[in-house]
Amino acid sequence: MNDDSRVLAQTYRYEVDEEAAEDPAYVAEMAPPSIPDYLRETYSWAYLHPRSLWLFEREWVVNLILWGNMNKLTNVVLDEMQLQPSSSVLQVACVYGNFSNRLASHLDKTQSRLSIVDVAPIQISNVEKKLAGQNNVSVHHQDSTAMCFVDGSFEETVVFFLLHEQPEEARRKTIAEAIRVTRPGGRLIFVDYHGPQRSNPMHYVMKPILALLEPFALDLWRQDLLSFMPAGINPEQLSTQLYFGGLYQKVVLDL
Ligand SMILES: C[S@@+](CC[C@H](N)C(=O)[O-])C[C@H]1O[C@@H](n2cnc3c(N)ncnc32)[C@H](O)[C@@H]1O
Repeated sequence: MNDDSRVLAQTYRYEVDEEAAEDPAYVAEMAPPSIPDYLRETYSWAYLHPRSLWLFEREWVVNLILWGNMNKLTNVVLDEMQLQPSSSVLQVACVYGNFSNRLASHLDKTQSRLSIVDVAPIQISNVEKKLAGQNNVSVHHQDSTAMCFVDGSFEETVVFFLLHEQPEEARRKTIAEAIRVTRPGGRLIFVDYHGPQRSNPMHYVMKPILALLEPFALDLWRQDLLSFMPAGINPEQLSTQLYFGGLYQKVVLDL
């Protein structure tokens, strides 16, 4: 399936089929996604307010928030990609800074394409502007918990620092959806927070910060990512590496 037909599949979901339009559930499913409660209630300051873009849409700010690890964690994702020529790659949710531009440029070397989804219209228009110079990117207004792509649409899927922001139910759905839209034999790369050992001073610095600002993140301190994955995913399919004394993790899932 080429990229155009995947987008058509998405477009089809938004077309109103006259018979089905009689069914309110169907129409609700076809509508563009609304902002999830957790995003509105916990993260307006970071992603929904126009001033949040002004403040956070800078590589050095994101790097500061990640204690100087932004470049390293971006490289970690690029290094894990196993791109064939003309691959399709999905980035689930926007990321401030240079991440998406670097990913798009990396994919361009193999004539591969990047699709980015996000649930917030303000983030969609921001990423469209930010990536205007890249000709291998498409941007989609979708919710990660119920994406509109057909099964197996992508060779690789990247989820960069999204899961810690979601309550457990949304996190489980996002992971299940990311797996569904990645083809058998494909690869998923998750980078996110992880609980550092108590011997790491970051344990004591970050715990109160996350508890205050990013309460769902502490789930990832307590439980392995595997525990949020659907039944049928085996530990042998996963490889995990920790960074910065265990504050960050990369989990690669081979399907
Ligand atoms: C990937 S996360 C955080 C990334 C990182 N902390 C950064 O520097 O931007 C932030 C993005 O996730 C998006 N997001 C949150 N919940 C989502 C959902 N259910 N579906 C799609 N996008 C979502 C937000 O709108 C926001 O643009």
